[in-house]
Amino acid sequence: MEGLGQVELPILSCQNLCKSFPGNQKQEKLVLANINLAVPKGSFVTILGQSGGGKSTLLKLLGGFLPPSSGRVFFDGQPLTQITPKIGMVFQDHNLYPWMTVEQNIGFGFKIRGDKPGTYQHLVHEILDTVGLSQSRKLYPHQLSGGMRQRVAIARSVVVKPEVLLLDEPFSALDVQLRRRLQDFLLTLWKEMHITMVLVTHNVEEAILLGQKLIVVGNQPGQIIEEVVISEPQYGDRYHPDFLQLQRHLESLLDSNLIDPVQAKPLPISNGKAIS
Ligand SMILES: Nc1ncnc2c1ncn2[C@@H]1O[C@H](COP(=O)(O)OP(=O)(O)OP(=O)(O)O)[C@@H](O)[C@H]1O
Ligand SMILES: [Mg+2]
Repeated sequence: MEGLGQVELPILSCQNLCKSFPGNQKQEKLVLANINLAVPKGSFVTILGQSGGGKSTLLKLLGGFLPPSSGRVFFDGQPLTQITPKIGMVFQDHNLYPWMTVEQNIGFGFKIRGDKPGTYQHLVHEILDTVGLSQSRKLYPHQLSGGMRQRVAIARSVVVKPEVLLLDEPFSALDVQLRRRLQDFLLTLWKEMHITMVLVTHNVEEAILLGQKLIVVGNQPGQIIEEVVISEPQYGDRYHPDFLQLQRHLESLLDSNLIDPVQAKPLPISNGKAIS
């Protein structure tokens, strides 16, 4: 893939980022430990990890939605201390407003900025067309399928033209066919709109297929256990032997770091497989 070689400064990065939450018996629970990562401008970075590993927490820190316990996030060379319209976020549970139509949900970012409808309606219509939802613009979220809701959530975030879009498992609830169509759709958006993308997923295939740079976050506490630069075109072909080899490697890497999310302790491992 193109891109990584041409970029100099990361648009988004973090240094020694740690995050703790209050835990049981007044003890702090360390969720993320010493995260250092850099997102090159214009790139597509995927963050892969298992459930409970701190992926959503990491994304919220990178977007300024949560303060770090220690360490720093940098956006465009400056410390990031609060949310900014230059960084959009598609949350894991999409957060559409149920009382607003598709069109109103998508235009909401402009409305809270105080823009007059006449100044942004054409942009809303344009993005509705791009995501294939022009016919559904007067519907409410409960009248949409899961895939349509995800497209509205993505449209709402990209319509205000952020420089970076953070996406938290946007396709995890969808069937394989729809997931693949929306992955292609997201790649098209990335190429056409030149928005830097950071996508969190627990799906190994998705992480390889979409990412130019793939960051693996291990569990308990969440920390970076591997970074892969995906530069060869064969990684766009999910049936290519190199793709399958990388997929196998990443799956066994995640397996060897397997944590029982209920017990919150490592499962015993035998021959690379967890014993349940
Ligand atoms: N606001 C919070 N207060 C306390 N603990 C939290 C908070 N947010 C997250 N946690 C804890 O941090 C850990 C990581 O949560 P997080 O949602 O970041 O994981 P995740 O990797 O996104 O999981 P999943 O794949 O299931 O979405 C969990 O143990 C969770 O209980
Ligand atoms: Mg999550």
